[in-house]
Formats: sequence, C-alpha cells, structure tokens
Amino acid sequence: MTEFTEKYLAKTAAKLGLNTEQMPKNIAIIMDGNGRWAQKKGLPRIEGHRQGGKVVERIALDCVDIGVESLTLYAFSTENWKRPAEEIEGLMKLYTQYLIGIRPMMMKNQVKLVHIGSRENIPSHVTDALDESMEMTRNNVGMILGLALNYSGRNEIVDAAKKIAAKIKDSALSIEDIDEKCISSHLYTPQIKDPDLLMRTSDEMRISNFLLWQIAYCEFYVTPVCWPDFNRKELEKAILEYSKRNRRFGGLSNKS
Ligand code: FPP
Repeated sequence: MTEFTEKYLAKTAAKLGLNTEQMPKNIAIIMDGNGRWAQKKGLPRIEGHRQGGKVVERIALDCVDIGVESLTLYAFSTENWKRPAEEIEGLMKLYTQYLIGIRPMMMKNQVKLVHIGSRENIPSHVTDALDESMEMTRNNVGMILGLALNYSGRNEIVDAAKKIAAKIKDSALSIEDIDEKCISSHLYTPQIKDPDLLMRTSDEMRISNFLLWQIAYCEFYVTPVCWPDFNRKELEKAILEYSKRNRRFGGLSNKS
C-alpha cells in the first residue's frame, strides 16, 4: 500500500462507516454478462463488450478513488479463443482502443498497468498498445491495474513450475528452496498481492481458471448485475458485504 492509495482508502472507509482493516485492498473481477446484456437489448454481442469497456475505465477510476491497491480484471481467457472469429476480432480492437484511451486517466491518477497472461496469438496491434501503456505507466506509484489478457490460471502455474525447474537445472535454486513464497514469486503477478475480494458479475458461480493460486483465501462475491450495468454503487455494495465477512485464513474466528 503506497501513501497515494492509503490516503484515499482512509477517506472511503470513513465515508462507508468502516475502518481501513475492513476494506479490501486488492480486488479482482471476472467481468461477465456482456453478451447477455446486449442480447436483452436486441443488440449484437460486441455492443455489450463496447459498453463493458466503458465500464472498465469508470470502475478503474472508482477503485483509484476508493484507495484500492490493485485491481485485476479478467479481460480475455485462453479459453475465449474458442469464440467466433468475428467476436474475437471485435474484442481485440476494443482492447487496443481501450489501452490507448485510458492513458490520460492512468497518468493523471498514478495508475500502473501490468499485463498478466501469455502474449502468444495476441495480435501485434494489441501487444504494441499494451507495451506502450505499460512503459508509460511504469513509474506510477498509485493503484496497479492488472489486465488478464490471454490468461489461464493453470498455465500460469505450469509456467511457474517450468521457470523453477529451469533454475534448479542451472543450480540457481535447490528443491529445498521450493515453498509457497517461491511459487508465488514465479507467477505472472509477483508485484500484485493476492486478492482480498474476487467479484463476478451476472450471477455465475464459477472461477473460470482465474488466479487459481492467488485466490486461496480470497472472499468471493457474486452479483446478478451484468458487467455493462456494473457501477460504483454495486462496487460499494460488494465492499460492504466484504467488510462483514469474517476472514479466518483457516484459523479460528477473531470475532467470537
Ligand atoms: C464476458 O462476457 C466478457 C468477456 C469475455 C470479455 C471481457 C471484456 C470486456 C469487459 C470488454 C472490454 C474490456 C476491456 C479491457 C476493454 P460474455 O461475453 O461471456 O457474456 P455472456 O456470458 O453474457 O455471453
């Protein structure tokens, strides 16, 4: 938690009648329901994604204002390549537009962008926009915005195992060095702390291969609201619900 995010967190906690310990500092979101939102309105699916993209920028800004330390968003899973080519192409165009469009917001608010996932098969217009936005925001000291693009939680663990095995082969590590900290530090996200709160929109109760290692002790919150309708009020509702949870990390309750 930097001085930058701490100041905002204290303000939001006071506004919500909470203390800062009750606030989630690291949030992850599975943004779901774009297609259903569009369908209900008789619009093509891509319009749901377009509206979803707008919500991404607004929620990122809300999270800055709330004092969130990291916000990790599931934008595209490795399984999403199975969708129709037209939808994938439309999504990729949106990512590029969005990655360029949010630069002023990120620079103004000290947001640092981090990509999590594989670069394989992502069109170069997206990786170029991603690289430029990450480079531009590299030294920002506020919220970390993690964009899970072409991401798979299982692949992330497989890749970490390969990185560790290679180091053992080169004698840079020994088997005794392998512990939870070692595995965490070889994941895609060593600079992002494990989420305190994982949210999913549109009433689905699945994890869908998202942050499998990192969510071990995370609180899960599901809302029926589709992602294009998600807003600050819904976010605060989730935070209030989180504040009532009794996180025990496998130990005994500290409330009773
Ligand atoms: C799930 O909705 C959403 C996605 C697969 C993509 C997430 C993309 C966005 C929120 C839009 C753009 C994002 C950025 C970062 C610009 P779905 O299509 O699975 O919805 P459905 O379950 O109702 O069909």
